[in-house]
Amino acid sequence: MRIDIITVLPELIKSPFEASILKRAVDKGIVEVHMHDLRRYGLNKYNQIDDYQYGGGAGMVMMIEPIDKMIAELKSERDYDEVIYMTPDGVTLNQRMANHLSIKGNLIILCGHYKGVDQRVRDLYVTKEISIGDYVLSGGELGAAVLCDAIIRLIPGVISDETSALTDSFQDDLLAPPVYTRPADYKGTTVPEILLSGNLPAIDKWREEQAYERTKSRRPDLLTDY
Ligand code: ADE
Repeated sequence: MRIDIITVLPELIKSPFEASILKRAVDKGIVEVHMHDLRRYGLNKYNQIDDYQYGGGAGMVMMIEPIDKMIAELKSERDYDEVIYMTPDGVTLNQRMANHLSIKGNLIILCGHYKGVDQRVRDLYVTKEISIGDYVLSGGELGAAVLCDAIIRLIPGVISDETSALTDSFQDDLLAPPVYTRPADYKGTTVPEILLSGNLPAIDKWREEQAYERTKSRRPDLLTDY
């Protein structure tokens, strides 16, 4: 997979790819992530990328021309499956969307700033608009980092124990069951007996029940199919 991120703040989004699982995925050659500074296509001697909005009102709007040029440059080099725009008024990211995007080949992610991008960018180039939640960030970069993390960890070979991604919360529309590790007794607080029993079918059943109970109490909205 290749991800091209268009941003006015490349330094803001570099660090997640220089640590942990994302770095491993990059080092293994499973994913390539490239940052593109939109100011490269900024206008005039100030490298301007935003301007006042037509009709008046507070806040700047990102202009179509630098974005058009950047996307045209990328598209001249390869085909893209999606051009994703990070925006609070997009569709809220969920595990199903992450699964779907994790099997794509090439993605462009456009990070918005200020009041967002000129609507014509969205109409002409963007194929998916994604929000990471009902709150407003100061730019799309942190949202793009969240999206990339959610996608990349699902690509086969990125997480060493592949079943580990399959048993995450949400992967089967249920939250994950509680987990425990050593010691079995810590100052009198103990691990459920069943997990120490070695009876794998009984443990699986217990985990399913726990996942269901946890989902029912915390996120009943996820249980419509059960
Ligand atoms: N940009 C600003 N807020 C955002 C959000 N909640 N999700 C994605 N991109 C954003």
